[in-house]
Amino acid sequence: MKDSEKLDNSGYIKGIDKSDMLNLCLCTHQLCKEAITIGRSFRLPQKAQVSKKLNITYKKPKNIIIAGMGGSGIGGDLLHDWLLNRMPVPVEVCRDYHLPAYAGEETLALIVSYSGETEEALSTLLDAVEHGCMTIAIASGGTLISFAQKLHLPHIVVRSGLQPRVAVPFLFFPLAIIVEKMGLISSVEEEFTETMEVLEGLAFENAAHVPLERNFVKKMAWELRSTIPVVYGFREYRAVAVRFKSELNENSKIPAKWESFPELNHNDVVGWEASIKLTKELTIVLIRDSNEPPEIRNRIEATKKLSLIKARKVLEVQARGKSALARMFSVLFLGDLTSIYLAILIGVDPAPVKIITAMKKEMQQNYNVVGKLADKVETLLR
Ligand code: PA5
Repeated sequence: MKDSEKLDNSGYIKGIDKSDMLNLCLCTHQLCKEAITIGRSFRLPQKAQVSKKLNITYKKPKNIIIAGMGGSGIGGDLLHDWLLNRMPVPVEVCRDYHLPAYAGEETLALIVSYSGETEEALSTLLDAVEHGCMTIAIASGGTLISFAQKLHLPHIVVRSGLQPRVAVPFLFFPLAIIVEKMGLISSVEEEFTETMEVLEGLAFENAAHVPLERNFVKKMAWELRSTIPVVYGFREYRAVAVRFKSELNENSKIPAKWESFPELNHNDVVGWEASIKLTKELTIVLIRDSNEPPEIRNRIEATKKLSLIKARKVLEVQARGKSALARMFSVLFLGDLTSIYLAILIGVDPAPVKIITAMKKEMQQNYNVVGKLADKVETLLR
């Protein structure tokens, strides 16, 4: 079979994509619906009595910290970017074992780990409790939920059995709904509905049965084969650029890079002075929006003219939809789908992430961080 025929051959696709990641991804709009229902059914308590000494009161926060790693951290980044223009309090995403020093009783700490087993997330949960933060855990189960239950903390359990990156709706919408329940934002329902409609439309247009010549995402995957993709985003598409890059890493198993305007004009562009032998390995993916601010549009055009002429190719992905959320998720979805089609084209199963799993096992066997954290839970309960 010719390479150009692979993405239009359902038997070939099935043989490579053993966990059916492609169809799961095409159902993202349905996962969003399920995630919104789970978020809406969460009851925010007024208080959590952790121990005799420690009592947490849930009120309108002065700042928000969202802690999570990889596929579980991206929901926080998306929330941050989505609400840039309307969030009255600062939002920080923490990708580490410990929360920043300012975390305290006025902080809403949302601790996210899809598996519930990620040691950094477990550590930040206990950190949040020690700082007296208004702490809420989100996971599909695992140790994070059992720690939250022991400590009498509110928690949300989402659908299990997915790859964390596929579960992005479950790791984003509950956060948005908590922030709404706390009175920090309002009127999100219309945006949610539009987002699901846009995603459903894009899934229809780019489904597996739509042939390469009429399928935008298959064409993207085709152009990205045998190159190193570099995704350029801006403002509300910063997290989306990060996500696109990570999906190419984890699904397609290739190196990829991301950058963001206008910062990239102050460092990354100089790298394009390298020999054409090197720059010809890179394909640029520009995230575009018909409403992009004029200063960003001017920078994108100037960068294309001054630097990107040395790239193998420059591709553009247009955001779709009216609301900020629909536009962000439209590009996120196109990126996710591109990475899955690219994996299939290369001939690698998009689902397994062997090295991440091996790393976690190695850390747990050698250092038993989770065991030490379990002891700390007992101390906190005293
Ligand atoms: O995509 C992945 O599998 C990873 O980036 C994970 O999300 C990351 O390792 C954290 O694991 P979890 O999401 O289960 O907390």
